[in-house]
Amino acid sequence: MILYSPSDIEPPIADRRVRVGVLASGSGSNFEAIAEAVAIGRLPVEIPVLVCNNPGAFALERAASRNIEGVLLDHRAFGSRRAHDEAVVRALRERDVEWVVMAGWMRIATDALLDAYAGRILNIHPSLLPAFRGLHAVEQALEAGVKISGCTVHIVTASLDDGPIIAQAAVPVLEGDDAATLHARIHEAEHVLYPRAIGLALMRKTRD
Ligand code: GRF
Repeated sequence: MILYSPSDIEPPIADRRVRVGVLASGSGSNFEAIAEAVAIGRLPVEIPVLVCNNPGAFALERAASRNIEGVLLDHRAFGSRRAHDEAVVRALRERDVEWVVMAGWMRIATDALLDAYAGRILNIHPSLLPAFRGLHAVEQALEAGVKISGCTVHIVTASLDDGPIIAQAAVPVLEGDDAATLHARIHEAEHVLYPRAIGLALMRKTRD
């Protein structure tokens, strides 16, 4: 794995811990990696809440076992994507969240979320952007026959998977890979990259 970001970022990013809310839809392994980095003192933030849109998602169990509040907001219970995002923003604001981290959040953000946290939403995508945006990025990479793929952490903007890139990690595509084996290799890289990229993004912002 090659990480395209400074590897020694463990800075005091502010004189207090920035409050980061995590959004996840599924397994939540990236959430777990971020929470672990916080727990072992490598990422000086607080995670007051994990918001999840899918009942039964394993991410909620991971939050519970780490004593992080889990809030379930099932998007099927809302009349529109915007109404759902408004509820997400309310949940985040009620907990004084300052930055939002999407970790396998399978929803396209509306203005309700983008405006509330403009420039302060991060996402991780399983490709080396700008290649293979959108769904099924791992399958797209395999179909294209690339020999190197990876993952990208970027700021979320209104264009899908297109905001400013914070950091990337590259992994090889090996002979005989299928989507599952390649995604597993990318996942491992994500777990290293995302906590570091969060530190980088927050540092950059606090210096602006
Ligand atoms: C990751 O591969 C991420 O790049 C994509 O969704 C997946 C989430 O995995 N956006 P997990 O739920 O964090 O395990």
